[in-house]
Order: sequence, then structure tokens, then C-alpha cells
Amino acid sequence: MIRIKNLIKDYPMGRETFRALHGVSFHIAQGRLAAIIGQSGSGKTTLLNILGGLDTPTAGEYWLDGKLVSQFDQVDWSHERNHTIGFVFQSFNLVPALSARDNVAMPLIYRRAPLKTRRRLAEEALRQVGLGDRLHHRPTQLSGGQQQRVAIARALVGNPPLILADEPTGNLDSHTGEEIIELLRHLNRQGHTVVIVTHSPEVASQCQEIFRMQDGRLVASEATG
Ligand SMILES: Nc1ncnc2c1ncn2[C@@H]1O[C@H](COP(=O)(O)OP(=O)(O)OP(=O)(O)O)[C@@H](O)[C@H]1O
Ligand SMILES: [Mg+2]
Repeated sequence: MIRIKNLIKDYPMGRETFRALHGVSFHIAQGRLAAIIGQSGSGKTTLLNILGGLDTPTAGEYWLDGKLVSQFDQVDWSHERNHTIGFVFQSFNLVPALSARDNVAMPLIYRRAPLKTRRRLAEEALRQVGLGDRLHHRPTQLSGGQQQRVAIARALVGNPPLILADEPTGNLDSHTGEEIIELLRHLNRQGHTVVIVTHSPEVASQCQEIFRMQDGRLVASEATG
């Protein structure tokens, strides 16, 4: 599913550059549940954003589903993102003015699905995350855990094979966070490849693969199960 080779990411910093990734290589097979861990500033978000096509590497190769996506331009990437990747953020990133249903239906606009179809699929996705009774609530009318469920429904509404989550439990209490992880594990059992960036050893221990980042380098990887 995911194969990266010697990924380098440099950020321009005035006249200098800051190297956030120093040649990271790994492989995540389809259907796996993987965690990326490491201290603050170690490069986890940088890496996940590249995996999700939200940012481009300075050098190195990224193969996604057999395609060399590191050579993709913006247009290629927007198509790829829309069909292959669902992204979940720590801060939910929902549109405040829209209902849960319309937030979830948003990614389908790019697929040119008719409004009726978009709403039906959004309702299905919301039911899948246990929010079938909150279709018309706005984000501010939902709890943090519910907002993250809406964000997960939005990530999965187009049925992407890959779900990327950057600290999806970072803004939630531990009980609610555990429910969100259980939901992501459920999606993984249904066949989605799931990659979670997390600070939590408990979350990481529930994953089949753990990649540890330190100072922009992959310093350990372990696989279980
Ligand atoms: N746009 C940017 N410009 C310059 N430096 C950046 C930029 N984004 C990130 N960095 C630097 O790259 C390094 C890695 O940042 P990144 O956000 O990937 O860390 P992280 O592991 O996700 O940390 P956290 O756990 O705090 O979210 C940090 O030192 C950060 O300061
Ligand atoms: Mg981060």
C-alpha cells in the first residue's frame, strides 16, 4: 500500500533550510494498522502530511498502491487524495456553518455525485460511526468525541482504502479517545489500511506496526500480529 524510500523534507527558514525528515524509508502493507510515534518535533506530522499528499517531499520516493506519487503534480494528487485517502486531524477541521451531514458529504462534491446521493452516502457514513441521530447538528452542537466521529465519517464517506489520522485523540479525554481508536480499529478490520500518529503508548500498543521517529529519522520499527 505505502512504500517510502529515503524521504527528505526541507523547510525553507529564511536563508537556511530546516531538514525535518532525513531520509525515511518504510513499508506498510495493505490492510495493516500502523502507528507513528515519537517526541514532539520529531517529524510525525510532516511525514503523515506527505503520506496524505498534503505536502510534498524534497527528495525521495513515495509509492502508493504501486504508483510513484512523489512525482505527482497538484492535479494528480487531488484526484488521488479524493479516491484513496481519508484524513483525520487532531482538531477535527469541520466547517462550523455546515451540519454533520453536509460536512461528511463535502468530499463527494469533487466526485460530481448528485446532492441526493451525497446526502444518502453521508447519512450512511454517519450511521457507521454511530451518529445516525445527529445528522442536522452543527459541529458546535456536538461533543468533541462526536465531532471527531463526524470527521471520521467524512474521511470514510468515499470509501478510501487508506485512512491517515494525525493524533485523532489528542483533543479528547481518555475514554472518548479510546472509543475513537476502537472505531479506527473497526474500520481497519473492515479492510481499510489505517495509519495513526499518536503520543499514546496505549494507542500504539493496539497497532500491528509501530514506527518510532526521532529528530526526523525513523529509529525503530516493530511489527506484531
Ligand atoms: N512549515 C514549517 N517550516 C519550518 N519548519 C517546520 C515546518 N513545519 C514543521 N517544521 C519543523 O519540523 C519539525 C517536525 O515538525 P512536525 O510537525 O512534523 O513534528 P511532530 O512530530 O508532528 O510534532 P508534534 O508531536 O508536536 O505534533 C519541527 O522541528 C518543526 O519545527
Ligand atoms: Mg504533529
